[in-house]
Amino acid sequence: MKKTIPLIVGNWKLNPVTLDDAVKLAIQVASKQKKAEVPYVSVAPPFVYLSEVGKKTKKSSVSLAAQDVYFKNIGAHTGEISILQLKDLGVEFVIIGHSERRAMGETDEDVQQKVLMTIKHRLIPIVCIGERERDEQGHFFSFVEKQIRCLAKVLSSAQMKKIVIAYEPIWAIGTGNTATADDVREMQLFIESVLTKVYDRSTAKNTRLLYGGSVKPNNAKELHEEGNMNGFLVGGASLKADDFTAIIKAVS
Ligand code: PGA
Repeated sequence: MKKTIPLIVGNWKLNPVTLDDAVKLAIQVASKQKKAEVPYVSVAPPFVYLSEVGKKTKKSSVSLAAQDVYFKNIGAHTGEISILQLKDLGVEFVIIGHSERRAMGETDEDVQQKVLMTIKHRLIPIVCIGERERDEQGHFFSFVEKQIRCLAKVLSSAQMKKIVIAYEPIWAIGTGNTATADDVREMQLFIESVLTKVYDRSTAKNTRLLYGGSVKPNNAKELHEEGNMNGFLVGGASLKADDFTAIIKAVS
């Protein structure tokens, strides 16, 4: 994956309610993305729809992503889904450590293990980080730095370059309070500076960064051009094919 080509990932979360609707949405998104063109596009439906959505996107340039993964491959782990099962379905990306999962108790250690398991099997983790709120003193920068350092504890530079970091400030997710393009640009520089400190400049330059949090058709262009990240993780707006396509066009 060339970092110069943006990556747009649609996180469907717990939507839609029926398989029929999931398949319809997949067909609509895929039909608008037939040619392998800029940018890279991926959709992350709920686990139960992965197989059918994968069949509909297979012939298009839209790839498949999962919303989570478990860090064991087999055995007595009721309710969990393994990386091997995801790989078997053709999944390429795995969202890990989304704030909505962290809010349900997922720890930094869980995130580390899931990332390692995903890399080991050559899928690409999209690791979500981001502060709950912003404060005038800028403590949120330390929070983000801590999350990156936690990942860095278990990843070599070569491994870090293979993952995607999605900066998703929690206050911007699903609220309509998008970060400004300046906020995004500032965070992009900050994350690169942390990666440079922890690793080196090459790691910082080669690790893909996404922004997520109320990305919509009307703000995507400015956020992309001025925010200077390498793509978006899109929630709500990925559930309407027209909106998702408009965001894809905005970065093309
Ligand atoms: P949102 O969600 O676009 O609805 O804010 C983003 C996300 O949670 O990934």
